[in-house]
This record gives sequence, structure tokens and C-alpha cells, in this order.
Amino acid sequence: RRGAYSQKRFQSTAREAPDFAFAFDIDGVLLHESRPIPGASDVLRFLEEQHVPFILLTNGGGKREEDRVSDLSEKLGVPLTTDNFVQSHTPFRQLVDGPDGLRDKTVLVTGSDYGKCRDIAKSYGFNNIITPSDILAAQPNIFPFRHIPSLHPNPQPLPRLPYTGDTSTALSSSLKVDAMFVFDDPRDWAVDTQIIMDLLLSRSGYIGTYSALNNDSSLPNCGWQQDSQPTLYFSNGDMLWAAHYHLPRFGQGAFQAALAGVWRRYTGGHELRRTVIGKPERETYAFAERVLNAYRHERLREIGGHGANGLMAVYMVGDNPDSDIAGANGFRSETGTEWLSILVRTGVWSDKRQGMGMLEGVKKPTTIVKDVREAVEWACGRHG
Ligand code: G3P
Ligand code: MG
Repeated sequence: RRGAYSQKRFQSTAREAPDFAFAFDIDGVLLHESRPIPGASDVLRFLEEQHVPFILLTNGGGKREEDRVSDLSEKLGVPLTTDNFVQSHTPFRQLVDGPDGLRDKTVLVTGSDYGKCRDIAKSYGFNNIITPSDILAAQPNIFPFRHIPSLHPNPQPLPRLPYTGDTSTALSSSLKVDAMFVFDDPRDWAVDTQIIMDLLLSRSGYIGTYSALNNDSSLPNCGWQQDSQPTLYFSNGDMLWAAHYHLPRFGQGAFQAALAGVWRRYTGGHELRRTVIGKPERETYAFAERVLNAYRHERLREIGGHGANGLMAVYMVGDNPDSDIAGANGFRSETGTEWLSILVRTGVWSDKRQGMGMLEGVKKPTTIVKDVREAVEWACGRHG
């Protein structure tokens, strides 16, 4: 099967530096959960042999980059590295340092597995990490219903006591949360919603408090989220993703929509202020392009190729018009690299389900193909 590719028009030699590259989405392009999509392993091997650089750019997450990469290498049967891999939450590592760096601040993390989210945050350099599980264990009254114990297997002691309204726990010695991160798709929506809402309504992030600015209109600067409450970050906004099931499944964006709905209802119609990264956000594409250029540079150095040519084109191969395609089409690279978008039919988009009508404006792909194999053939054919 690999032989089929050697017949293609595009051929490169070790001393040539291809001036194009690929960014592959994972779910719905390379995999359906753990099953590789036919052709996925072949094209990655082919590109590797031809020294055409690529990155995997996924809105998925929930594992440390090295763990996810070794898992993917095994599933796809292709050796992959963290050097050309960007998960939805990878750019969060940039928030650790810098003038407002969060390295030693208290951050609340949540996602599909509280323990794994903690590990990821630790690997990024955050030093003070807590989870909703920890808060629930320290103060079970925070959630008056029966929770699902299997989702809270290993809570850790909190570094400080949360404020309980008891004057013996002075506010200044209580636990203050400075930022909240949704790393991937939460499982315990009820507990997470309650705790995130509490913090969004709190006085400056102190657990167990309620900001007077929320509804005392006699105070200057009165308003929602006006009292230094923790910033809320989501690692992606995908409403849908392509799993084994024949219809797309809800992703992290569904949790975000639910939380924003609760917020809107609670505040009488106010929009929840939050920061969302991942595809289609510009920041994620800029981050991905930097990773891709560094990777390309390194690979060219290894093979002794000429690095003189800049990267002219990046082909984003994706299955989701709202994220992969819209992001690539809307991104304007500062280095002049052109991003083109290739939509495959193996994922969330289907002309029967959503129709061609949705592929308008920024969601209109450069081309539509059957699968990842055809995507690579089409793109390489343009550089023959
Ligand atoms: O949870 C996974 C998802 O939202 C999408 O992943 O690889 O299709 O960007 P991907
Ligand atoms: Mg996808």
C-alpha cells in the first residue's frame, strides 16, 4: 500500500526543502476514537519519507502530550513526537510565565479526569493546582446531591481552607482561586457547574464568598465578573466531534454552552465572559505555525536540506467546518504562509446531515475530498 504513493507525481529528495506542510486534525481525520481511518497511517509514513513536515493539530486533550503521542503512535503504527503535536490545551503552558504568569497562583482545573488534568497542568509548570474533586472532598456541603464517586477517585488536600462564613476562617487566610481551566470534556457536569459558578460569583475568587458587586447597584463598578473573579479558560469550543457512533457526539463546547446558559439565566441575560482557545481561534493557529516552523527547521537541519525557502503553504486537513476549516481560512500568517483548508467526509460534516449550505464564507473549504488519503494526494499534486 505504501508503494502506491511512490507513483505519485510529488517526489522530494533529501536535499530539497519542500515549501509546503500539513496540519492534520485527529478525530474524524486520522482516527475514530481508537480506530485509525483507512489511509491515515500510510499518508503519515509517506510524508515522513518525503520530508514533508506536518503537525497534528487537535482540539482533543485530556492527557499529557507525551502520553497522547505514544498512544497515537501505537494506534496509527507511525512513530510520532511531541515536537509536531499540538493539543487544544497545549498553548495554556504559555500562561505559566510572563508578567501575569500563573506559575505560583492557584488554578482550578477540570476535564474528563481530574487527576490527569492535574498532571497536565503540573507538566506545564503550574505549581498550585486544585480540582473540583478536592473542593468537594474538603467541603461536601458545596454539592447537596449525591455525586458519582467513581468520578472523584483521588482528591488531594487543599492548600488552605475554603471560606465557610465562619469568622474563625478569616478571608485573608482562605483559599483564593486565580484562574479556572477546562482542559477537555468534563464528565461531572453538575459538580463542575456548581463550583465554577460559585467562583464566578465569588469575591475575588475566594471559595465560599459572594461578591457584593454582583447586585448592589449603589457600589461603584457594580456588575457581574467585576470583582477580580478568576478568568475562565476553555481549551476548545467544539460542540460536536466524530467518535465511533454514526452521528457526531457532544464535546467540550456543549459543556460550555450549558454553563453559559446557566450563567445567562442566573444573571438575567448577561453573557459569560470567558477565554476560549483551540481551533478555530487565531491564537491556536499562530501557535501551531510556530511549532510547525520550528519542527520543519529541525528536520531540515537533520537531513541536510536547504532551509532557504520559507514555508509557502500549509494544508489544514479537517472534518469540522466550524473549527478546522474556519480557523485555517480565517488565519492570516505574519510570515506570509498561506493556509488552505481541505474538508474530509469521514467526520462530523456530511452533506446529507448539514448540507453544503453551511459551507459558506469562512467555513468554505479550499476543497472537499473523501478522506485523508485523497487530501494528501490532492495537496501533493499541486506541488508536483
Ligand atoms: O474532543 C475531541 C474534539 O473536540 C475534536 O478533536 O482532533 O477533531 O480536533 P479533533
Ligand atoms: Mg476532527
